[in-house]
Amino acid sequence: MRFGRISGLVVSTFAFTAPAFAQETADAVAPEGASEGQVQALTEEVIAAVEAKLAGVPVQSENWMVAAANPLAVEAGGKILRAGGSAADAMVAVQVVLGLVEPQSSGLGGGAFLVWYDAASDQMTTLDGRETAPLAATPTLFHDENGEPLKFFDAVVGGLSVGTPGTPALLEEAHRRWGRSPWPGLFTDGIRLADEGFLVSPRLAALAANDAERLARFPAAAEYFLPGGEPLQQGLRLMNPDYAETLRVLAADGAAGFYGGDIAAGIVNTVRTAPGNPGVLSGTDLALYQVIEREPVCATYRSYEVCGMGPPSSGALTVGQILGMLDSYDLAAMGPESVEAWRLIGEASRLAFADRGRYMADSDFVPMPTEGLVDPAYLAERADLLNAESALIDVAPGNPAFDHAANWADDVSLELPSTSHISIVDSYGNVLSMTTTIENGFGSRLMTNGFLLNNELTDFSFRTHNNGVPIANRLEPGKRPRSSMSPTIVMQDGAPVLAIGSPGGSRIIGYVAKSIIAWADWGMDVQQAVSLPHLVNRFGTYDVELGTAAEGYVDALTTLGFEVSPRDLTSGLHAIEIGEQLSGGADPRREGIALGE
Ligand code: GLY
Repeated sequence: MRFGRISGLVVSTFAFTAPAFAQETADAVAPEGASEGQVQALTEEVIAAVEAKLAGVPVQSENWMVAAANPLAVEAGGKILRAGGSAADAMVAVQVVLGLVEPQSSGLGGGAFLVWYDAASDQMTTLDGRETAPLAATPTLFHDENGEPLKFFDAVVGGLSVGTPGTPALLEEAHRRWGRSPWPGLFTDGIRLADEGFLVSPRLAALAANDAERLARFPAAAEYFLPGGEPLQQGLRLMNPDYAETLRVLAADGAAGFYGGDIAAGIVNTVRTAPGNPGVLSGTDLALYQVIEREPVCATYRSYEVCGMGPPSSGALTVGQILGMLDSYDLAAMGPESVEAWRLIGEASRLAFADRGRYMADSDFVPMPTEGLVDPAYLAERADLLNAESALIDVAPGNPAFDHAANWADDVSLELPSTSHISIVDSYGNVLSMTTTIENGFGSRLMTNGFLLNNELTDFSFRTHNNGVPIANRLEPGKRPRSSMSPTIVMQDGAPVLAIGSPGGSRIIGYVAKSIIAWADWGMDVQQAVSLPHLVNRFGTYDVELGTAAEGYVDALTTLGFEVSPRDLTSGLHAIEIGEQLSGGADPRREGIALGE
């Protein structure tokens, strides 16, 4: 155990306690740490939760638990749960505070997917609050005047990339279905913190400094994130009166106050007048926005059913495919230090990503072989490909059962890490897993009414066709871009046993799959599972987490024929195990905590 001093408190710095990774990598993957001011401002419970994370042990509780990316947001959710609110109520309070204190990752200007286990009815429901492409958008939105795809950041920054936000409608819909607390009270902490100010966290300060050039392009974002021309400083008390006003409108008028009136007008005006890169979002797009309930997608893994969000997210299908292919391999016997285990995980992931690139998109717009992709017989066939001594040379999509004739070309659209994940269990036994995003860090960099607007449309494939064959995830008006967000609830014998999810672009899928394997096969507790160093394979490169014990696999994986790339892998996993007690884990790579009573 190593010790560091934060704000006069002695706290242990992060060290792996997972038996497999006994090699301490504390400094290399240490969290960005709580700022001095933050620790002083927080309650004893929150400080204890920070200490638990830093010590690598799960937080335990009897009645309820909330795990999310910022202590102030977690505390807001905890207050609601303590007062008898449901997980849906607490989620609203968490999300509105996250949109203030972690504005670069998620907020009212973005979208989210929510997975809900309802204890009273023993039902699982998934809600799709994904952004939609404006009705005036065409498939060639991200093409230049020569018909060539724009460079990624030329498309991201400005109005062109902004989809119709879904998060405010999702908050209202979740509360309408499962809320127990009065709606206006869910905004109390968000409004107070926006009015009185909050202390800028180390992560927000570092990310604003890193992104200063892009943020400087638009006056509202520049004024807020670069006050006086300088990036926000850690520990600065930052107020956001415009956001407080937006929350007051939401608290009083519900989502209608967001999708119509002054807030909507501000969004549309900001998008359509963005200097250099105006977009096409309209008041009609906002007025027509709908949350969609969808069938959960579940895949069998060992004695578990791993359930999550179906299309337009590729999350549950791809996590399910990876786990389904690995089901016939005894990873438990191999253990987490086995090169063979990581070969299998990496290859299963490559095969799953090949199917993802070919088949997965918004199933309201393109026919998808959703059931075929997680059919155990199909996955067993794909799993046979893993019977090899070295890395597969050719990784191609398979042929899942499909009741529709379709010919799709492969898509390799880019998704960069950002986003945020919330896991909550309430005292009634309800479980919520929600991943929420504005896509890139700081989204489109456009800000209005105190919040940032998303750049979710760049999750579409910029190319519409390859060699004349259409790409399933091409942009179409009203369509939802394919996502990798993987909010997950794991079931066993008909009861929920784990809620988990992460940010991280398309690496989300690998982070979530790996953590479930660590927990289910390698006997790690939730904190060990989320802290375990990452090895992630998507399109072929085997990414290993820089500065951790994962780097110890570089030579062995290279010898097997993988192209290995050590790099920062900043997940933000938040997990709650539901057993005799609740047990929470928060990712040491970000600023979140798990809190319960
Ligand atoms: N924008 C990240 C995702 O939806 O996967």
